[in-house]
Amino acid sequence: MTEIRNIVILTGAGISAESGIDTFRSAGGLWEQHRVEDVATPEAFARDPDLVHRFYDMRRASIREKLPNPAHFALAELDAAWRGNLLIVTQNVDDLHTRAGARRVLHMHGEHLKAWCTSCDVRSHWRGPLIDRPPCPICQSRSLRPDVVWFGEMPYRMGEIYGALREADLFVSIGTSGAVYPAAGFVQNARELGIRTLELNLEESQGSRWFHESRLGPASEVVPAWVAEVLRGG
Ligand code: APR
Repeated sequence: MTEIRNIVILTGAGISAESGIDTFRSAGGLWEQHRVEDVATPEAFARDPDLVHRFYDMRRASIREKLPNPAHFALAELDAAWRGNLLIVTQNVDDLHTRAGARRVLHMHGEHLKAWCTSCDVRSHWRGPLIDRPPCPICQSRSLRPDVVWFGEMPYRMGEIYGALREADLFVSIGTSGAVYPAAGFVQNARELGIRTLELNLEESQGSRWFHESRLGPASEVVPAWVAEVLRGG
């Protein structure tokens, strides 16, 4: 097997599930509680901004009370110890990777703890609600929106992600259903580039057939075990 120097890790809602953050598509998940068309599209925001703000204000407040779990800490340990290139590409908008100590993290779907001003186009750190239309800390206009990539919008920093994939020897996918593109297509990109691929997930996902290997189980167990193996040089 090729020596592993550069690693790209994709994470999804499943890595934060054991921290008490709802996933999207599991039974009772967020997309059963709310209609995507009502809260997660630019059209929904234009139609009923209060409904959208209420949804994200609720999530922003609840995420602040959650704590990273052993899977987040294991990836932070790997990030600190790994001498080669490593990039944690997360679809999650929570800050649990960073709170666990990871540094090489890229939020491709945005971040809950940021607000985006659609007047001056600046993204600011934001912890409170947006529903009362607070002024932008930069331009004072009252056009802040959640800094979250909605359906129909382009994910962030795709050039950097594809660049890291081109340099990678290993692609690992953790806690994602493989239901949403372009993230769900990264494993196929990796295969086309001849990269080794590994899936760590609670159950089979829509993309499982593309992976060289799938290890099924809760992230808090399978991720620390995999990180220990990699750091042992396995
Ligand atoms: N450990 C590991 N995997 C888990 C765990 C766990 N404890 N709990 C759930 N999972 C797995 C599920 O089996 C499922 O495959 O995590 C996956 C979660 O899938 P989704 O809810 O579809 O979340 P995700 O793949 O991150 O969604 C992708 O869709 O709604 C949009 O923008 C949103 O970023 C999100 C994107």
